[in-house]
Amino acid sequence: GTAQIGVTGLAVMGRNLARNFARHGYTVALHNRTAARTRALVADFGHEGAFVPTETAADFVAALERPRRLLVMVKAGEPTDQVIDEFAPLLEPGDVIIDGGNAHFLDTRRREARLRERGIHFVGTGVSGGEEGALEGPSIMPGGSAESYESLGPMLEAISAKVDGEPCCTHIGPDGAGHFVKMVHNGIEYADMQLIAEAYDLLRRVGGYTPIQIAEIFRTWNTGRLDSYLIEITAEVLAHTDSTTGKPFVDIVLDQAEQKGTGRWTVQTALDLGDPVSVIAQAVFARSASGHTDLRQAYRGLDGPTAHPMATADSNAFADQVEQALYASKVIAYDQGWKMILDGSRDYDWSIDQGAVARIWRGGCIIRAAFLNRISDAYRQRPDLPSLLADPAFADEVTGAQDAWRSVVATAAASGVPAPAFSAALAYFDTLRAGRLPAALTQGQRDFFGAHTYHRTDRPGVFHTLWAEPGRAEVQQS
Ligand code: 6PG
Repeated sequence: GTAQIGVTGLAVMGRNLARNFARHGYTVALHNRTAARTRALVADFGHEGAFVPTETAADFVAALERPRRLLVMVKAGEPTDQVIDEFAPLLEPGDVIIDGGNAHFLDTRRREARLRERGIHFVGTGVSGGEEGALEGPSIMPGGSAESYESLGPMLEAISAKVDGEPCCTHIGPDGAGHFVKMVHNGIEYADMQLIAEAYDLLRRVGGYTPIQIAEIFRTWNTGRLDSYLIEITAEVLAHTDSTTGKPFVDIVLDQAEQKGTGRWTVQTALDLGDPVSVIAQAVFARSASGHTDLRQAYRGLDGPTAHPMATADSNAFADQVEQALYASKVIAYDQGWKMILDGSRDYDWSIDQGAVARIWRGGCIIRAAFLNRISDAYRQRPDLPSLLADPAFADEVTGAQDAWRSVVATAAASGVPAPAFSAALAYFDTLRAGRLPAALTQGQRDFFGAHTYHRTDRPGVFHTLWAEPGRAEVQQS
């Protein structure tokens, strides 16, 4: 075979990645369950580069140079296993199967281990950037063996987005590391989106701005420290008018946010790792709450404050406060994500370079932002940064924003406008900032009802108080 890479699964992501490889001079073998898609790709885009269309699994494998590199772009879950079962028997030791779907990292670990027994490299790879990213340059997060990256890495780097000449692709770590990091990316994506949604809601219901005016505010923010793809597209969505009704587009869309599940996985995994990713969790919960029509029906109209849009003079100052609340909350959300990467890397022994993750998210992916340059710089200065808030510049920004941030959260509560992600971010900040936490009381309660013991602040050891006995003597247990 002559093709340097093969792509099987030619729905929009697979098709665009195949075209991206071809545009970069690689010969690309094509395969799809139904051959019509393969033919359509060649008919529509054949002029863009060298494609080798194939119809059977055997022809597809035969079209590839060795070691073979097969990129699988099918729906995550059962279909991925089916494709692996179809192709693995046709492969030889040293060949590489790349899964570019949004697979759960535990599935990737299982698949990698199984294929490794047969000498086949399995590279679970995060790919972010949607359709356009896949074609023009995504952010790519490959896991799998370091050996597989030697031959595969240069090709992935070639088709990835570039920032300051650096590719938005790096070897994340062994087995499921790539898909884990992509999952956390999506958790952060959910948090970013929810924070932006809350900012919009407050600007509209408390600030009294129209969607068109809010689009303008977001455009302004996009020239500052919030500069990001998500802020940019938010302005586009808010400025859009529905053609059939003439109303703001945002007013004719059903207000129930859906999810394919990667945000939920982030939170499920965080619970297992013991990571308090509260802002990401609130973003996932906000989506599910929006979809519970039965609950919304039961609560709708219950008495409570009604937001009254403020006078224009005040709304300008309010918009500035919302920018600060959004920025501070964003730092917290990212800090939660980075902490989760640190802990995942430790638990699974992946040795993930956290600074490199920031670097490859500067471009191509959905959360791409000027802000990622800042995180990347912070890790360049201090590769073992334990938290973004341990970076003096971030700490200054967040502490500097907090008066506005507190005021926005207070205003939201007083006005009856939900701001779960803003509030969770602020509570997280205050929790970790506090000298003492009421966790001490929780420990006391646990010891009272379950003899679960506690530690003392003044001397080492494990203690239990005999709560049921008169005198409530304390016994040291170890
Ligand atoms: C990306 C996105 C992408 C994700 C969709 C939908 O990085 O390109 O994260 O991978 O699948 O945006 O996600 P939800 O349906 O869960 O919102």
